Amino acid sequence: MKQQFWHDCWDNTHIGFHQDELQPLLVEYFPDLLEPQDSRIFVPLCGKTSDLLFFADRFKVIGNELSAVACRDFFLENQLTPQVKESLSFNIYQQGNIELYQGDFFALNSKQFQPFDWIYDRAALIAFPEEMRVAYVQHINRFISAQTRVFLLTLEFPKDEIQGPPFSVDEDEVMRLFNGCKITKVTERDLTGQKFARRKLAVSSLTEKLYIISK
Ligand SMILES: C[S@@+](CC[C@H](N)C(=O)[O-])C[C@H]1O[C@@H](n2cnc3c(N)ncnc32)[C@H](O)[C@@H]1O
Repeated sequence: MKQQFWHDCWDNTHIGFHQDELQPLLVEYFPDLLEPQDSRIFVPLCGKTSDLLFFADRFKVIGNELSAVACRDFFLENQLTPQVKESLSFNIYQQGNIELYQGDFFALNSKQFQPFDWIYDRAALIAFPEEMRVAYVQHINRFISAQTRVFLLTLEFPKDEIQGPPFSVDEDEVMRLFNGCKITKVTERDLTGQKFARRKLAVSSLTEKLYIISK
């Protein structure tokens, strides 16, 4: 998946993946999973999701997003005025508890961050085709320390029915990708016939699954 594809999506407002409301499984399950000391969360490939605001009540939120349009619109649409620090590889938008690193996820150096308590993956892993998912998980692993838990949402549907993104990532693949980690499937919900965010996918079955992953 070329970066230009995503820039074109944002430039032309083809953002069917964007959810206008908070992610339901996040709202339902996340609060009960929290430990008192949890304070830092990383949101790779964050787009302009409102879930960032949900986290910002309590967490220092570090987001990463390729598109400057997405970063700009996140703050604009939420009536927030960020400070912007420009640099060669990343522009950093900061307001309150939220810092968005705008640039390529694969160029982000995990060593520049203090450990995260959580990583939130909604439509990040499933945004990449198979070979890139391996590279994505290799890189995300660098952000997972002993205390980190990954809140991972996936989609499953018959792979040959549509061309992604989104891509179907089944349980076997999650187990393979995060081999050596502790993986708990928390829940799943049947979305067959319903919209995935703003888009109705032409698939005969659709399931969203939530995993919690730690080392
Ligand atoms: C399917 S969208 C999901 C966005 C967000 N997680 C959400 O739930 O709305 C995938 C996002 O990843 C971003 N993206 C794609 N490749 C990226 C990369 N290499 N580095 C950072 N962001 C990337 C895209 O611009 C897009 O906003």
